[in-house]
Amino acid sequence: MNEKQLVGEKAAEFVKEGMVVGLGTGSTVFYTLKKLGQLVKEGLSIKGIPTSKQTEKLAEEFGIPLINFREIDSIDIAIDGADEVDPKMNLIKGGGGALLREKIIAHAAKKFIVVADPSKAVNRLGQFPLPVEIIPFGFEMTIKHISSQGLSPKLRQKNGTKFITDNGNYIADCVLPKELDLKIAEQLLNMIPGVAENGLFLGMADTVVTLDKDKNILLKERS
Ligand code: A5P
Repeated sequence: MNEKQLVGEKAAEFVKEGMVVGLGTGSTVFYTLKKLGQLVKEGLSIKGIPTSKQTEKLAEEFGIPLINFREIDSIDIAIDGADEVDPKMNLIKGGGGALLREKIIAHAAKKFIVVADPSKAVNRLGQFPLPVEIIPFGFEMTIKHISSQGLSPKLRQKNGTKFITDNGNYIADCVLPKELDLKIAEQLLNMIPGVAENGLFLGMADTVVTLDKDKNILLKERS
């Protein structure tokens, strides 16, 4: 079993009967979705809220029943991947471009579980470019404002054209300067009109499901 599968499947154990489950996006949580589909077939009753169109499609494929925001008051648990995890369990997310919906769902969840193979662990966030979702209107100006904060944004491209998120927005992949405090970076970005959301998930993760050096499951809990 590969590392993503090990952590992805383990996270499915946190899901209990009757829960409303935030369904993350990416190649690690893929295995969680697959496992949940199997558990549903065996009789588990849950409702899922997907963080992307891609996940919505997978959930349907795996037979996980979905529910709409207007039908619920809260989300019991959200399970999602990460591009980087620091020792305080702060994250960079959005490598797949789903960060806005992922953050809405993680924020609404009573418990946020992150599935991350050991390659995602870093001492300091920022080796992976920080994805920032920006709205198309005036994006050239928004990019200049991000740039003036020293974050060196680069508009994400896909197949030779601008990458478009599920929300119809663009992604600017940014550089996090080493000396910049993460909370300050988050505030600077949030203050720029045109920024829809940033991929910093600070203090949000409750549990990180990862592996130790012997490939045994390691659960890290927020202290
Ligand atoms: C999607 O936009 C991202 O936030 C993913 O959750 C993150 O990129 C992790 O993806 P993998 O599990 O594919 O590495």
